[in-house]
Amino acid sequence: MRNINENTITQAVVESMRDSGNARLRTVMNSLVHHLHAFAREVKLTEDEWFHAIRFLTEVGHITDDKRQEFILLSDTLGLSMLVTAQNNKKPPECTEATVFGPFFVDGAPEYKNGDDISNGASGEPCFVSGRVLGLDGLPISAAKIDVWQSDDEGFYDVQRPPEPNSAPEHQARGRLRSAADGSFNFRSILAVAYPIPHDGPVGRMLEALGRHPWRPAHLHFMIEAPGYETLVTHVFRDGDKYLDSDAVFGVRSSLIADWVRHDAGVAPDGTQMHNAFYTLQYDFVLNPAAN
Ligand code: BEZ
Ligand code: FE
Repeated sequence: MRNINENTITQAVVESMRDSGNARLRTVMNSLVHHLHAFAREVKLTEDEWFHAIRFLTEVGHITDDKRQEFILLSDTLGLSMLVTAQNNKKPPECTEATVFGPFFVDGAPEYKNGDDISNGASGEPCFVSGRVLGLDGLPISAAKIDVWQSDDEGFYDVQRPPEPNSAPEHQARGRLRSAADGSFNFRSILAVAYPIPHDGPVGRMLEALGRHPWRPAHLHFMIEAPGYETLVTHVFRDGDKYLDSDAVFGVRSSLIADWVRHDAGVAPDGTQMHNAFYTLQYDFVLNPAAN
């Protein structure tokens, strides 16, 4: 393998991988090499541009740690996350659509009972959320595991705040509940607000250079798991939000937009006397049966 030139390099790399015992890896890497080389040829990539890209990816790696996942942000803002979500979550139109997972899920969030306040002190206007988990036949799915997470009213998730002595609890505005025998669930939390994705790093600089904003429309994240059904990872988006048509990560689906209803001070759905305005949200989720 000598004297490889710009016309023979692609085939040379593909042939170098032919002895891999992993057929799927070969398929994926062959295609990646073909597309990567085609891209470099198409734009006539310069050495300066190549080095700029290497520096950019190095910065993405350096800023990534167990709390900040800049690679997911890069994938999200380039539409790759939504593409992978869409092509892996095809289901009947009656089912709730999936959308991006995002970087702020935490495994092992506190467990709550229906009716509990999952905000755990996070700041925001009170919001009472209720709904049902259903099958395609409209029948309730009981004991579904429901993970919920959201930002506070400043647009920050708990994991984005640096831990400080005597500071807020580790987990705020996130939790895990179970649907009741009739498929219903309900909890108290805070009003979802629009927020910018972290944009003080290389991905933020990329967005700025591209004339793009970093905002996501207000939403509440859900992950719902039940035996015999596909796991649903989705959001519910707040109707009327000004970023619904320009989500920085391309995650909005019309079917996931719902009305957060504002109420003046009075009695909340859980019977609490509210001295200030509060919101309610009602949304039902329909799960797709798992393939056998
Ligand atoms: C989120 O909704 O939490 C999120 C999704 C993608 C990138 C950043 C944040
Ligand atoms: Fe989010």
